[in-house]
This record gives sequence, structure tokens and C-alpha cells, in this order.
Amino acid sequence: MSMTYPDAVEGVLRREGLDDPIFLGAGEDAWAFALSDTEAIRIFPHASKYFVSELVHLYDRLQGHSFSFQCPRIHEVRVHEEIVYTIETRLPGRPMEEYCREVDGEARRRVLRNYLEALREVGEVEIVDRDFGGLSISAVWPTAGTWKEFLRRGLETSCMQIGSGLTKEVPDSRRIVSRLEVLIEERMDWDRKSLVHGDAYPGNVLVDEDGEVATILDFGRYSLVGDPRLDVAIAIELTEMAGDSTPGDTEYLRGLIEEDPAAAAYRAWTAVVLASVYRGDSRIVRKCIRTLRETAGRL
Ligand SMILES: Nc1ncnc2c1ncn2[C@@H]1O[C@H](COP(=O)(O)OP(=O)(O)O)[C@@H](O)[C@H]1O
Ligand SMILES: [Mg+2]
Repeated sequence: MSMTYPDAVEGVLRREGLDDPIFLGAGEDAWAFALSDTEAIRIFPHASKYFVSELVHLYDRLQGHSFSFQCPRIHEVRVHEEIVYTIETRLPGRPMEEYCREVDGEARRRVLRNYLEALREVGEVEIVDRDFGGLSISAVWPTAGTWKEFLRRGLETSCMQIGSGLTKEVPDSRRIVSRLEVLIEERMDWDRKSLVHGDAYPGNVLVDEDGEVATILDFGRYSLVGDPRLDVAIAIELTEMAGDSTPGDTEYLRGLIEEDPAAAAYRAWTAVVLASVYRGDSRIVRKCIRTLRETAGRL
């Protein structure tokens, strides 16, 4: 039996002569299918040609770096009836969340460690020609001349957007925010222009059969220039958003970064900001509120 997909996706598949393609996955932006063992097609029902061409630039930049894993590579951008789609390298590995469903104990901890290690490699990439916060294709992040300024602005904008929602759920939130303003000055400065993936969660990671990270995908929409510690904090915050990840996974990841004196501050900052960025997603907002309550005592 062949699957059915949204009309925009079906239209492109028909145009490309793909009757019953192997479905690889879908997210917020794109539907991915295998074209062959080595190529994939990604269909963007809502994205503009601008968005996709910015993605092409970003992935071109990444090709110059030797990671221990692969990153997407777009060969061609095509348009059919205003729907943008791409021909890309088919990437190795299978979704980390699917792998995690099948392993526990040390094997599971190992894949979580590999995940943070791979993110550290992302943070080695320097993007010197952009401001801090720049690079995001969707402009979710503020931009600023210094990292501290980026952090201050992000916090301020998020507090404004969340309004009284936070004070209701976290009675301590005023104190947390003032404390964060101090910690930004004292502990969170960063002057290297490092690449931050910005949307690292197990749904954007493919792993091989040994639990090694084979691919990190989906750079772009939330990527920015900044401090790699933010990527780790975002990854920890979003891990449970993947189907089969658990609070135990979050706790294990958190333990891996605890020796950094800025870790709690980064987690709290990230919780406030993600609660604002994802204010329409109650699961993420609830998770952020839990994080704020947990980190409050350690700031
Ligand atoms: N080139 C590819 N090769 C293999 N699988 C892919 C490829 N691109 C996407 N996928 C699969 O499709 C899923 C959704 O793709 P992703 O790039 O994350 O889209 P979105 O931007 O919509 O989140 C991924 O989690 C991955 O499993
Ligand atoms: Mg994705």
C-alpha cells in the first residue's frame, strides 16, 4: 500500500516520477525521501526559495570542516508549482530517538555522550563574518556586537514576550531574571564566534549501529553565532522533546556539564528564552518551567 502525503508533497513526488518512495522523515520544514542509496529529495511545503538558498550557503560553509560525522549537502534546488525542493546527499545513520528506544544502561549513556561530543565539534567552527546571534535563517535570535549583549537582549525580549506567564508558574522568576543579568556579566562572556546549531535534539541526529553519531542535520532555522555552551544547554532542554527520551536522559546529560560554573546559568537562560521562542508548544514550555524551578537554587 502506498502512503499518502500532503498535496504539496504529492505534487513534487509525481513531478519527479516517484510513485512509492522510501520515506526518510519529516520535521517542521521538510519532508525527506530516498531517491537512491546515495541521494535524497527534501520537499519544503511552506519554505521560501530564500530560506532554502540560505541553507545551501550554510551547508557549503560546513563542507570545509572535517567533522567525525556528516552534515547535509544540497546539490540542487528545484521548484514545482511554487513548492521548493532539493536534491541532497542521502545521509548515513538512523534517528537517534529510534536507536535510544532499543538500548538502555551503558549503551544509552554512550550515545548521549557521543551526542554532546559531536556538538562540541560543531562549536569548533568559527563564523567570523557575522555578528553574534547572526546566521539564523528565521531571525528568531537577536543580533549583537558582543555575546553579553546578545544574552542581555535575548533575555529581555523573551521576558517581554512571555509577560506574566512566567511569574505565575515560577514565583521566583523575577529574582532568577535579575540574577541572570548579573551572571551574564560575571560568567557568561564569550568572544570566539563559534557556530551554534541551535536546534540540536535527538530528532536532528542520526547514529550508526554502534551508537556513534553518523550525521547532524537540520542546521539553519535556529543556528547562530555564539557560545557552544548555549548549544549544549539547548540540547539538554530539548532532549525530552524526542519521542522516547526520558527525564533520566536529561539528568545524565546535565551531569556531564555540571562542573562548568556557568552551566546552571546557561540552563536557566535557555529555559526562559525557549519558553518564549516555543510559546505555542505547551510541552516545551512545561519543560522550561521545570528547568527554571530546578536551577533557581543554584544561580
Ligand atoms: N538527506 C537525508 N538523508 C537521510 N535522512 C534524512 C535526510 N534529510 C532528512 N532526513 C530525515 O528526515 C528527518 C527530517 O529532516 P530534517 O532535516 O530534520 O527536517 P526539518 O527541517 O523539517 O526538521 C530527519 O530527522 C531525518 O531522519
Ligand atoms: Mg528536524
